[in-house]
Amino acid sequence: TNRTFTMIKPDAVENGHIGAILEKITAAGFKIVAMKYTQLSRRDAEEFYAIHSERPFFGELVEFMTRGPIVAAILEKDNAVEDFRALIGATNPEEAAEGTIRKLFATSIGENAVHGSDSDENAAIEGAFHFSGREVF
Ligand code: GTP
Ligand code: MG
Repeated sequence: TNRTFTMIKPDAVENGHIGAILEKITAAGFKIVAMKYTQLSRRDAEEFYAIHSERPFFGELVEFMTRGPIVAAILEKDNAVEDFRALIGATNPEEAAEGTIRKLFATSIGENAVHGSDSDENAAIEGAFHFSGREVF
């Protein structure tokens, strides 16, 4: 479909990159249809990242994602999920292509500046996790 879900993660917020990241997103043709500045509770983060609960970095991931505010947003564009994953680049910023958001703003594989949904199904689940119908325009 034409929507994806993103978060600007705590590292990028702390480092003052909210504006620059939103500029990259809109310049790439994504329309922001929902957005909020919020902070995940431990329970939120454990639920959001439940798929990774058996991975060795899960504790670190939950600590990181809850340590400060994030920007959560739903984005609209043709081919949104795939195009947004291309815009953010590889999980590990050392492997991310030049010009991608993670290449520009991420510091490590764990603290990698942004999230992007990995499927249409997850985009819908993740968007609904953060936004009610009245918050999507
Ligand atoms: P998201 O868009 O955030 O879902 O990233 P991704 O789809 O590129 O990666 P994946 O879903 O595999 O991992 C989710 C998140 O877990 C990553 O974005 C990282 O923040 C974190 N993560 C993944 N691998 C590692 C790792 O080896 N070490 C640490 N500390 N964190 C990791
Ligand atoms: Mg992922």
